[in-house]
Amino acid sequence: MNFSLQKTALNDAHRPTIFPTADDAADAVADHLLATVKRDPKSVLGLATGQTPRRVYKRLVDAFLEGEVSFRDVETFNLDEYCGLAASHTDSFAAFMQRELFGLADFDPDSLNLIDGAAADLTAEAARYAALLRDSGGIDVQLLGLGANGHIGFNEPGSAHDSHVRIVDLSDETLSANQPSLTELRSVPSQAITLGIADILNAREIIMLATGPAKAAAVRRSLREKPSTDCPASLLRSHTNIHWYLDSAAAAELG
Ligand code: GLP
Repeated sequence: MNFSLQKTALNDAHRPTIFPTADDAADAVADHLLATVKRDPKSVLGLATGQTPRRVYKRLVDAFLEGEVSFRDVETFNLDEYCGLAASHTDSFAAFMQRELFGLADFDPDSLNLIDGAAADLTAEAARYAALLRDSGGIDVQLLGLGANGHIGFNEPGSAHDSHVRIVDLSDETLSANQPSLTELRSVPSQAITLGIADILNAREIIMLATGPAKAAAVRRSLREKPSTDCPASLLRSHTNIHWYLDSAAAAELG
């Protein structure tokens, strides 16, 4: 493919689908994921946490409860986890996924790959998770949310394009942005283990869901400015099978 054609293809891959409301955008993402699992019941899904994907997961659960789909053969990978939190801790991302999705449908617990934030040796845990991901044959569809500072997973500004699973320090902006979602902890853990940008880009398909005015600047920087480690989500522009789902509020600065 010559550069100009490839450039066009890249632009097509990065033309966002914009919906009137956050619910409409989330419903479209849920439909995308349901179509994936119906097409390949053994799909490997990379899953994000946070407030944005909650409606997506509710729609997946509803589809299961209505007998529309089964997740029993699906394999999943969580995107990230706070250091120091075991899956039993209510503020862990593992517990979030159990509450919002895994515990409400027919996922096989043996097929749910989770980072152990409470591992005695977190460096070894990051290496274990990286090996799991590598040996799995990779992620078919990676669902992402967008941090207000452009982070993906917990790849904060400055994260290298070729980064892999590792322990990271969370930015002050992320610590304050994630504070409201805590229920037991008094403050957000200062470190996390996250898939790296290279791991995310290795996914065969990426779905980015960003909604609300707080994400508008990060969306503009990701889709309109020169790709830079200053805005990790902008590095997704090197992926040629990515779908951006936005509501009108998150798309407000795209012009
Ligand atoms: C957290 C997560 C990200 C998530 C982001 C946005 O930092 N590590 O995976 O996308 O915050 O979360 P929310 O959807 O709640 O805005």
